[in-house]
This record gives sequence, structure tokens and C-alpha cells, in this order.
Amino acid sequence: MTTIALVSTAGGAGRTTLTASLAVLLARRRRAVVALDFDPQNLLGAHLGLDALSPSGIASALVEGNDAWYASTWRNSEGVLFVPHGQLTLPQLAAAESRLAGSQQWLAAAVAQIDLPESGVVLIDTARYPSQQADHAVRCADLVLCVTPPEPAACATLVARLGALRAACANVEVVVNRLNPARDMQRDALAMLRAAVGGSVSLAQRVHLDAALPESLARGTWFFDDAPQSQAAHDLQGLANWLDAWLGASHAPRRTGEHV
Ligand SMILES: Nc1ncnc2c1ncn2[C@@H]1O[C@H](COP(=O)(O)OP(=O)(O)OP(=O)(O)O)[C@@H](O)[C@H]1O
Ligand SMILES: [Mg+2]
Repeated sequence: MTTIALVSTAGGAGRTTLTASLAVLLARRRRAVVALDFDPQNLLGAHLGLDALSPSGIASALVEGNDAWYASTWRNSEGVLFVPHGQLTLPQLAAAESRLAGSQQWLAAAVAQIDLPESGVVLIDTARYPSQQADHAVRCADLVLCVTPPEPAACATLVARLGALRAACANVEVVVNRLNPARDMQRDALAMLRAAVGGSVSLAQRVHLDAALPESLARGTWFFDDAPQSQAAHDLQGLANWLDAWLGASHAPRRTGEHV
């Protein structure tokens, strides 16, 4: 079983959209998939088929201290198992974050309870980095996907956090989302990002901007089914193919600090 965390240093970068899309596209490639919502916005369930924000989820267990989070597991029509975050009040959220701060292995222990085959994958949608939720996800991940729009502020904040992310996880990749090649400013931001990361991180994984993508979400359909010939659908399929190949090549991923 491989764990992948989707993080970003900017809001609205596309983490939840990519978590849900990759969960479905990997399930269609015959992988056993669990999608875990570790963002208090609690929106991943809506992407994966729930009509309303789930009141309970992994964070309810965190607050109640019973750790029986798997009681909130759902399965969608694509065969994706998913666990919502759950709706927390502000005081509950403070209590949850305090528990995460005091129990550094909480999420790793929860993920270790998931019974998936070796080829299975756990995708974790996180709160914006830095946060307790994202920090836990990064530390228990075999691969971190940094989702970033090619915008100056998003790229600058990612560059500032890349060292910490790479210290926490041996495998860090950048996924550029909402790419619009017609905008010069995006080309400049990408050039700045490329110069800052050097050859250490590939920027090959890119998903173009497509205004029809949020419309599919609103309709409850999958964009890559609605517009399979579009550039963004092609990009998402390519990203899923790349990830599927990476998973196939790394059934026993090595964590930072492990002996060679
Ligand atoms: N490639 C894309 N083209 C067009 N719209 C996109 C694309 N990717 C995501 N979006 C849209 O951008 C918005 C934000 O996406 P999403 O909620 O997935 O981002 P997020 O990183 O999870 O945000 P948050 O910080 O709020 O958790 C959504 O309306 C989504 O439909
Ligand atoms: Mg989100």
C-alpha cells in the first residue's frame, strides 16, 4: 500500500479536484483506492458523490478520542472507498489540531490500519500547507504531490516550503494545475519556479485550465467523461498514467531516514 498526500501552499490550487479525479482514474486502472479527507473544509465527499457535507468523518474520531474513524467510510459508484473529514465546530477544530500537535504519529497510525493490497493506494487531501493536517499527511506519505497554480504568490510560497516538504518525505513532485499558456505572467512564474527548484523536481506534470471543470463538478459528473478530448482531460489521464506507473515501480517505497 502506498500513501500519497496532495498539498499546496495556496488556496484553491486544485488539491480536492485532483484527489477525487485521481482516485477515480486509478480505480478505473484496477487499483484499490482509499481517498481520505484531512481538510476541515470537508469537501472531498461532495466531489466523490455525497449530496451533503458529511457530519462525521476522520476528524470526529480525532475529537472524540475513539480513533474508530473507519466507521465513516463510504464507497462510491466507481468503487473508490472514501473517508470524509467531518464537520467540526471552531472549538472542536482547535481540539483536533491540539491533539494532532501532541500526537505526531496520529495520522500515520490511522493510515496503517487501512487494509489494502500492496498495489493499493491511499490518497490524502489536506488543508493548505503549513497546517497540522498537511504536516501529518506529508510525514506519513510515500509521495507528496505539490499542487500549484503557475501564479507568482503560489510559486513563491511553494519554493519557501519545498525544503521542509523534502525533509519530511523522500519523494516530492510538483503538479502544475490551472495552466493557461496564453498568460505571460504564468510563463514567468513557472520560469521562477523552475530556477528555484533546479533539476531536483520535475515540472512535467501539468493540468491545463478548463472552465468546464467546475461545471462538471456542479453537475455531479466527471470532467474527463464529459470532455474526453479536451486538453485538461488528456492531462488528467496522463497524470493518472504517470502515477499508476510510479506505483507499479515502487511497491516498497523507501522513507526518508531509512537505511539503503
Ligand atoms: N484545471 C482546472 N481548470 C479549471 N478549474 C479548476 C481546475 N482545477 C481546479 N479547478 C477549480 O478550482 C476551484 C478550486 O479547486 P479545489 O477546490 O480542488 O482546490 P483546493 O486546492 O482543494 O482548494 P482549497 O484550498 O479551498 O481546499 C474549484 O472550483 C475547481 O473546480
Ligand atoms: Mg480543497
